[in-house]
Amino acid sequence: MFETLKKATLDKIFVLMAEYAADPRTDKIDLGVGVYKDHTGLTPIMSSVRKAEQRILDAAKTKTYMGVVGNKGFSAAVVDLALGGVVDLKRIRTVNGAGGTGALSILMNVLSRARPGGRIFISDPSWPNHWPMAELVGLKPHFYPYFDAQSRRVDFEAMMRAVDDLTSDDVLLIHGCCHNPTGANLSRGQWDAVVESLERTGAFPLIDLAYLGFGDGLEEDAYGVRKVVSSVPESMVAFSASKNFGLYRERAGVAIAIGRNEADAEIVSSQMQNVIRATISQTPDHGAEIVRVILEDEELRAEWQAELTQMRERMKRLRVKLTDAIRQRSNSRDFDFIAEHSGMFSLLGLPQDVVEELKTKDGVYMINDSRINVAGIPEGRIGELADHLLAAIR
Ligand code: LMR
Repeated sequence: MFETLKKATLDKIFVLMAEYAADPRTDKIDLGVGVYKDHTGLTPIMSSVRKAEQRILDAAKTKTYMGVVGNKGFSAAVVDLALGGVVDLKRIRTVNGAGGTGALSILMNVLSRARPGGRIFISDPSWPNHWPMAELVGLKPHFYPYFDAQSRRVDFEAMMRAVDDLTSDDVLLIHGCCHNPTGANLSRGQWDAVVESLERTGAFPLIDLAYLGFGDGLEEDAYGVRKVVSSVPESMVAFSASKNFGLYRERAGVAIAIGRNEADAEIVSSQMQNVIRATISQTPDHGAEIVRVILEDEELRAEWQAELTQMRERMKRLRVKLTDAIRQRSNSRDFDFIAEHSGMFSLLGLPQDVVEELKTKDGVYMINDSRINVAGIPEGRIGELADHLLAAIR
């Protein structure tokens, strides 16, 4: 059987993670995989999560099945958090996903049933998993321009030329906030223009919302997604709790579908449930229950928000500090974009050989497209990191 198979390409992010783990150097710096890290380099369990987990353990009586739609309290709390009541709940249906990726996969599967072989437009560049995920369900991925490599900002004119050309059979995959990998995000005015275009063409928006609260704040980061779902008749959102609740390995996510009306929403719901049953039958619940407990409890919710704010502010501070250190040493503003970007990532725009040299010579690990995870910047060694970066590009 297996002799017919070829070796598949593994995702570069996880290949790099393994390389980093195997590197014996004690002064190595991990700017690779997108996980939040504290000042000690640890991806911590949030205190609100620990408390919720304890409550769950104390109260648990069973581990029987939840049903195919999963933890309804979790989904409802997430819909409220992300969409903020801008759409009539009658038009919304949800199922839990195994993480944000699981949620996105369910939604893509349903879209592929609605438009077999249909086109899905993905930003260039995008999270490396978007393209293979689309292919796996039988959608035809295409890129739309997104990033201007010179200015390291969104190339909005080029993006809109492509977006304006979409048809009502096309899917537009948009990062809800904190664009991965570039860190360059749409302004409010640009979101408004995208929405106007979607209203005109009827193209279908699919929003990947994996970093809510990591950019400018929970409400601020939700502007785009709320604008889209409240303006167009049909849309979908994949929500991930991996980053903002630090629940990476628990796989907590919600697939949200918004139909024209209740009857359409019911149909989409049945399709989502059908996909779950035929793939993993039931989604995991531990992470979902943690998020439900936190969001439904005033005190725990406030504690979680404070922790999230701290994480966000730390990432912003690291951006500014690295930018300042580079500016002081080089007397140039070429890297100022790092402080202007938001979320967890910045795409530095370095050539591959420079990225490779930083890894082999200095032990500085970043994704080979030169994406850095800002949370991995070691606060006490920012000068050293700036020196490495500047030496490598010279
Ligand atoms: C990343 O982009 O590094 C994270 O989202 C981890 C992943 O699953 O790729």
